[in-house]
Amino acid sequence: MKEQLLALQKACLDAIKKADSSNALQEIEVKYLGRKGELTAILRGVKDLPDAQKPIVGKLSNEVKTVLEEALENKSKELEKEELNKQLQDDTFDITIPGPDRSLGHVHPLSQVQHQVEKIFNSMGFMIMDGPEVESEYYNFEGLNIPAWHPARDMQDTFFIKGKHDKKHGRMVLRTHTSPVQVRTMEKYGAPLRVIVPGRTFRYEATDASHDTTFYQVEGFMIDKNISIAHLKGVLAQFLSSLFGKEVTVRIRPGYFPFVEPGLEVDFSCLICGGKGCRVCKYTGWVEFMGAGMIHENVLKAGGIDPKKWQGWAFGFGLTRLVMMRHGIDDIRLLLGGDLRFINQF
Ligand code: PHE
Repeated sequence: MKEQLLALQKACLDAIKKADSSNALQEIEVKYLGRKGELTAILRGVKDLPDAQKPIVGKLSNEVKTVLEEALENKSKELEKEELNKQLQDDTFDITIPGPDRSLGHVHPLSQVQHQVEKIFNSMGFMIMDGPEVESEYYNFEGLNIPAWHPARDMQDTFFIKGKHDKKHGRMVLRTHTSPVQVRTMEKYGAPLRVIVPGRTFRYEATDASHDTTFYQVEGFMIDKNISIAHLKGVLAQFLSSLFGKEVTVRIRPGYFPFVEPGLEVDFSCLICGGKGCRVCKYTGWVEFMGAGMIHENVLKAGGIDPKKWQGWAFGFGLTRLVMMRHGIDDIRLLLGGDLRFINQF
């Protein structure tokens, strides 16, 4: 028995010595020390030996087991090191190869123009406000002097959101314009105010080259004492001239919006032809730009502002349209279409 154990030990140690990979070493471990291994079989057999031999064989078997385990452990570390070295040598690493290209992207043309608009109005003392895109009927319509029965509701085709009925605020809608932020801001800060509100707006429109269900507007309003349309004209001329980098003339015509009185349509002189008449301005020399007017006293009241003490004007223009004009884009769907071949041109 003793010879058999020593022979087994020798055979195993020899095998370990010759092993040239971790896999080979693992096989040896299984062969001798595994559940069905040779040494394991001997150790299991100890209980069947005559009593006199049990302690001797048991002790020796355990000693052999320790020797083999140690040898396996040492060889395993050695092989691991060798394999790592080999791998490092095989993997030639060329430090001159450029790293993976991480392209940073750039700001969307809508946001680029939005940031310019914000900067110009900021420099004239206007603050920038945000409002919810999912808005209540109250702020989108009633607060702006457009009650539910009013035909002006038809001017803006509206997406209604299911559920949520509240007596004062009505149903929920996707805001059809940025004007609801007028009353929200008045409620929050009171007068005086100089505010612009750039933001996303939605209408239930059939989509074509000049209509989309999602577009961007910029609302602007000013409330103070003795404010007139002259201030509006001045602010707009200054704004457009800064934006386009050349003198722009503004003209106003009567227009109708329930939340302003009087209401105005604002045009600016065509930048393409300088007012002489071309395709862009439909040979009129003027480009239709926005709705505006003196804020209706019902709107001031809804915002908690006393119309006897304060007055002001408001305007709203399509940022999306401005971007299209700026870059000569003739299809609105390109802007939010997500086609990088288009977007990467800006
Ligand atoms: N909210 C109006 C629209 O979307 C524009 C507007 C704003 C008109 C402010 C007058 C005053 O059509």
